Amino acid sequence: MGQDAFMEPFSSTVGVFQCKIYLLLLGACSGLKVAVPSHTVHGIRGQALYLPVHYGFHTLASDIQIIWLFERPHMMPKYLLGSVNKSVVPDLEYQHKFTMMPPNASLLINPLQFADEGNYIVKVNIQGNGTVSASQKIQVTVDDPVTKPVVQTQPSSGAVEYVGNMTLTCLVEGGTRLVYQWLKNGRPVHTSSTNSFSLQNSSLHIVPVTKEDIGNYSCLVKNPISEMESDIIMPTIYYGPYGLQVNSDKGLKVGEVFTVDIGEAILFDCSADSYPPNTYSWIRRTDNVTYVIKHGPRLEVASEKIAQKTTDYVCCAYNNVTGRRDETHFTIIITSVGIEKLAQKGKSLSPLASITGISLFLIISMCLLLLWKKYQPYKVIKQKLEGRPETEYRKAQTFSGHEDALDDFGIYEFVAFPDASGVPRMPTRSVPTSDGVPGQDLHSTIYEVIQHIPAQQQDHPE
Ligand SMILES: *[C@@H]1O[C@H](CO)[C@@H](O)[C@H](O)[C@H]1NC(C)=O
Ligand SMILES: *[C@@H]1O[C@H](CO)[C@@H](O)[C@H](O)[C@H]1NC(C)=O
Ligand SMILES: *[C@@H]1O[C@H](CO)[C@@H](O)[C@H](O)[C@H]1NC(C)=O
Ligand SMILES: *[C@@H]1O[C@H](CO)[C@@H](O)[C@H](O)[C@H]1NC(C)=O
Ligand SMILES: *[C@@H]1O[C@H](CO)[C@@H](O)[C@H](O)[C@H]1NC(C)=O
Ligand SMILES: *[C@@H]1O[C@H](CO)[C@@H](O)[C@H](O)[C@H]1NC(C)=O
Ligand SMILES: *[C@@H]1O[C@H](CO)[C@@H](O)[C@H](O)[C@H]1NC(C)=O
Ligand SMILES: *[C@@H]1O[C@H](CO)[C@@H](O)[C@H](O)[C@H]1NC(C)=O
Repeated sequence: MGQDAFMEPFSSTVGVFQCKIYLLLLGACSGLKVAVPSHTVHGIRGQALYLPVHYGFHTLASDIQIIWLFERPHMMPKYLLGSVNKSVVPDLEYQHKFTMMPPNASLLINPLQFADEGNYIVKVNIQGNGTVSASQKIQVTVDDPVTKPVVQTQPSSGAVEYVGNMTLTCLVEGGTRLVYQWLKNGRPVHTSSTNSFSLQNSSLHIVPVTKEDIGNYSCLVKNPISEMESDIIMPTIYYGPYGLQVNSDKGLKVGEVFTVDIGEAILFDCSADSYPPNTYSWIRRTDNVTYVIKHGPRLEVASEKIAQKTTDYVCCAYNNVTGRRDETHFTIIITSVGIEKLAQKGKSLSPLASITGISLFLIISMCLLLLWKKYQPYKVIKQKLEGRPETEYRKAQTFSGHEDALDDFGIYEFVAFPDASGVPRMPTRSVPTSDGVPGQDLHSTIYEVIQHIPAQQQDHPE
């Protein structure tokens, strides 16, 4: 709007030129323009306030008159001071308070008091070939700056989630026209099903508190001239336990089952989210009898302590403030049964290697048995059937029951694998060819097959 021109009130040539532009743009030229940068000015009590005013005119001037008036609602406007050319005529009541340096129309108020709040009107009259005048109004507010707020938590000892309530109160010692805002982790807190505010937003009520309410809270207090934020506070909210789980440093975890190699000491770690931290206890369950075996978040199960069968454990987490507990059950299974001796030789075998080993052993055992079976009856039959044609020999062999045994071997080899759980199904009996076989449990399973066959053999052919 060409404010630079207004700041040159006596430069009439420029003024006339500008007036032509205004005529072109606005279609009118008042001859005098009074401008203020802002129609609202916020002042600080006790300090000086400067109300800047710019004006410009486009006529020949003899007298320049500036008048300042003050008005408040429900009050008669008051004359503050005026000037003609460079001479100022103040209202004697306010002569030390308001200052003006004509032809500069800006007003200085010093010191500013609450009573100075209101509208300030400036009127400029230019007398030359006729008189032109213009005025502006500035609204002035007066405030005290905000002092740093302090947040008070009620109850200060903290609250248990879903049970307790919490009220955060923002306390400010100084400041006028305060506007309160609550921030959680730097973001504004809004009204919700659990959050509500007091009338002026100076208090935040959380009813009831939950774990989600944990955070960094602060209170931001503003007024037109300042803003201050409180220190961050973290309300104490007791919660949990949540997300209880057990982990181990070794072994394979599938669901609640830990599959581990025998001969290893395993460290179990029980953890759950809770405040205050949980107390943990470990329980072992054997044959419906439970023992509390340890307190604390960690449990070490030594190798020899791992029984040859599966064992159930429970980790129990207890929060002694919320009074809530949680427990998780888990099972330890030993995978390397049957190759214990091999494992003890030093190298821990992988499950695949174990299976391969067992399979090989089984196959070799079968072959040995087959040979033995073939050999023993052959001697007897050989004596009886000496010189007979081979076809007849084969026929005799069919009745010997050996071929039935051969079929059985195939089937039992398949069945024998699941039996490697370590629990022998049959009492171990003395077996003809069991020498030098390492896995005792597997032996018994396999020889069970063999023993049935010789028994039948004894019944029928002999
Ligand atoms: C009026 O005086 C103030 C200082 O009191 C100065 O900053 C301002 O620029 C002056 N305005 C004009 C239009 O001369
Ligand atoms: C104001 O100044 C103008 C020109 O400088 C002069 O003609 C006029 O008489 C002065 N007015 C008063 C009241 O001094
Ligand atoms: C004063 O104004 C009258 C009419 O408004 C005009 O005729 C005259 O030329 C003006 N004089 C000057 C010096 O501007
Ligand atoms: C929390 O506030 C609710 C609703 O005002 C009230 O019923 C409950 O008793 C309060 N709880 C505590 C611990 O003060
Ligand atoms: C809360 O503030 C602390 C430091 O005062 C910081 O370590 C933590 O990360 C903050 N939490 C959030 C959720 O911003
Ligand atoms: C209180 O805070 C809410 C949410 O921040 C806001 O919507 C509301 O205008 C505030 N009320 C007052 C009186 O400041
Ligand atoms: C274990 O206890 C349950 C019920 O408490 C019972 O039904 C079950 O028979 C018990 N088992 C053993 C092996 O004692
Ligand atoms: C809760 O347990 C902790 C130890 O884990 C103890 O220091 C605290 O005093 C206990 N609190 C209550 C209320 O029992």
